[in-house]
Amino acid sequence: MQTLKDSFGRTFPYIRLSITDVCNFKCGYCLPNGYQVDKSDNRKFLRLEEIKRLAKVFSKLGVSKMRLTGGEPTVRKDFFEIIKILKNDAGIKRVVITTNGYHLNEKAKMLVDSGINGINISIDSLERNIFKNITGHDRLPEILQGIKILQQLNFENIKINAVLLNGINASEKDFDLWGEFIKENKVDLRYIELMQTGDNLNYFNKYHISSKIFKDYLNKKKWIYQTFGKDAGPSLNYINPDYKGKFGIIAPYSKDFCRTCNRLRITSRGDLRLCLFGNTGISIRHLLQRDDQIEELQDLIVGQMKFKKVSHYLELGETGLTKNLSTTGG
Ligand code: 5AD
Ligand code: SF4
Repeated sequence: MQTLKDSFGRTFPYIRLSITDVCNFKCGYCLPNGYQVDKSDNRKFLRLEEIKRLAKVFSKLGVSKMRLTGGEPTVRKDFFEIIKILKNDAGIKRVVITTNGYHLNEKAKMLVDSGINGINISIDSLERNIFKNITGHDRLPEILQGIKILQQLNFENIKINAVLLNGINASEKDFDLWGEFIKENKVDLRYIELMQTGDNLNYFNKYHISSKIFKDYLNKKKWIYQTFGKDAGPSLNYINPDYKGKFGIIAPYSKDFCRTCNRLRITSRGDLRLCLFGNTGISIRHLLQRDDQIEELQDLIVGQMKFKKVSHYLELGETGLTKNLSTTGG
């Protein structure tokens, strides 16, 4: 069986698939003016049939986990059908999603019923006003209510991502607030260090702060770095016996971040991206048009693996192709 392996011995059982660039939030670091329709390309995101072929080929190549991202993946009308296809037709064992939590209270039950295996929700602040200022939407209450419903339905794998922003959500008080939340809720909270993209240089310069500030906090509060049982994600996890949830740090600039890379990305228009920030990416969409193209597609993907670089070189200020993360889904 052909599998996905790069020149550095890393394997890729995990694909992040963006199914749309459209997002209804306006996060300051990503889409400060909201999603702008590009009339010239008429939003031609991968169709259901294309997604099915894609998932089948990756499943054949040993991929067992797929994450649906956006933009905001749940804005797609056929979102639940996509989940069904990944699980039932392509046999992807773990299907997880990343969402901004929009209307989570209304969608929670359907999400659980769809059989997804995990959900990552972006919540940059537990303070309603700050949340509203960052995202442009006063929707924190419906998201928190959605989380409650997920928990009542015994949905287990809930993670929250917060982008660390200097002067906005990076004080001890902010960390304490999350601490109180995960003390009572079996939810993992991970702070992501702000990344520079093609679009956000000014924002980045103004708000970037090293995740060391959070690491120091965790050490001070006697959180224990979890060296064992690490999940397959990029986060460094910290546990505390008095808390139901874990804390985590995602620090893309740290020197070892790429060493354990186990994921590839597909953009909403069918480009294979070897790295979130790599300027290596080719379109594979022309081979998603007919069922009899599967072998050619498989060879093309396997052949690309040799181009995967050892690191993203972000620390050198290289942002590759990435204008913002709404196309490649973070
Ligand atoms: N830096 C760090 N995280 C980002 N996200 C979006 N843009 C950036 C950025 N420039 C996060 C979102 C979400 C996840 C998909 O990526 O907040 O949690
Ligand atoms: Fe939308 Fe996510 Fe970008 Fe925020 S970070 S604007 S939720 S795509």
